[in-house]
Parts: sequence; structure tokens; C-alpha cells
Amino acid sequence: MQRLGILLSGRGSNFLAIADAISAGRLRAEIAIVISNLAGSPGIAAARDRGLNAQVIPARARSREEHDAEIIAALQSAKVDLVCLAGYLRLLSPSFIRAYSQRILNIHPSLLPAFPGLHAQKQALEYGAKIAGCTVHFVDEKLDHGPIILQRALPVLPGDTEESLAARILEQEHIAYPEAIALVVEGRTRIEGRTVRITP
Ligand code: GRF
Repeated sequence: MQRLGILLSGRGSNFLAIADAISAGRLRAEIAIVISNLAGSPGIAAARDRGLNAQVIPARARSREEHDAEIIAALQSAKVDLVCLAGYLRLLSPSFIRAYSQRILNIHPSLLPAFPGLHAQKQALEYGAKIAGCTVHFVDEKLDHGPIILQRALPVLPGDTEESLAARILEQEHIAYPEAIALVVEGRTRIEGRTVRITP
């Protein structure tokens, strides 16, 4: 059974969707550790409520490399196979990405490569996009950039606000992330350049 390490900074609804998919038997994996950089993140409280190994590792006044080294040590001691970023609001250092090469996933609330970075849903609305969505991808050294595992699309509706669009995208995220993790832990993904080949 593959062991997941979840990194989050906030609400943690994607983490809960992953945990629920495991409980429901849709995802054969276990959550070995949940880490937040912020003590007050609701996601960490939810992880503790579920009896999971939940740790707060604050950045404090240290370099990104030093902070990441502590996180890597925690992931290694929890014997994590696959790192899942779930609303983790910090960039990873190159040494983190090297330590878990092709074993870090992220979810982003847009159809990448459109609208990387913060406030993707607002960016989509302001751009006048008619289709929005979410992307699960392998993490590489560039922000919201690595090879795409899967995407889910939905229409932008007339009258959508940032909040209404974000809420509908989030529903799709909660489907997409456990599905993508399942593909990876089942060994059904193969990275060829930018393309992720999925075996049936
Ligand atoms: C999600 O929209 C995710 O796509 C983005 O950050 C948000 C995290 O939400 N990376 P939650 O903490 O999982 O509820």
C-alpha cells in the first residue's frame, strides 16, 4: 500500500476528499502524514480529528531549503511514497523536488497552462474565459507547470462570481484529485516529456 504525505496550508477540503476516497475504497493508499506550515490551518485540525499523524512545521525565519529539509525529514520518517500538495501555499525548493522526483502531485483550480498562480478562478473570470476547470499535475521546478495527469472542465456561467465559480471548480477538484492519485499509486502513469501516458 502506497503511503501518502499531504502538504496543506489552509482549509483542507482536497485533503478530506482524498481521505474520504480512501475510506470509501476508491483509492488504495494510506495517509501517512499531514503537514501544514501554518498552525491554525483547519486542514490540520481535521487531520487530527481523524486520528491521522498531523504535524505543523512552520517556516519561521529560515531559508526555504532549511524549512524544506525539516519537511523532507518528516516525510521520510513517515515512509512517504507520494507527496500530495493540497492547497500548500509555498514554493518547494529544488532539493525537495529532487528528493521526491516525479513523486509530488499538485492540484490547481484552472485548466493549465491558463491562469497559473494565485486567484486562478478570478483570473479566469477577468479574462472572460467560457470554460474553467482544474488540473492535477506532477510538480516540477516551475510553478503550476509539470506534466498533466488529468483535468476536469466546466462552463463559466453568466453571473458567476469568483466565489460561485470557485465553488463549482472545487467540486470537480474533489473528484479529480483522488482519481489522479489512484492512477499514480496503481502505477498507471508514465511520464514522456510533458505528456503523462495513462495505461488502461
Ligand atoms: C484549491 O482550490 C486547490 O486547487 C488550490 O488551493 C485550494 C485548496 O483548497 N491549490 P483546500 O484547502 O483543499 O480546500
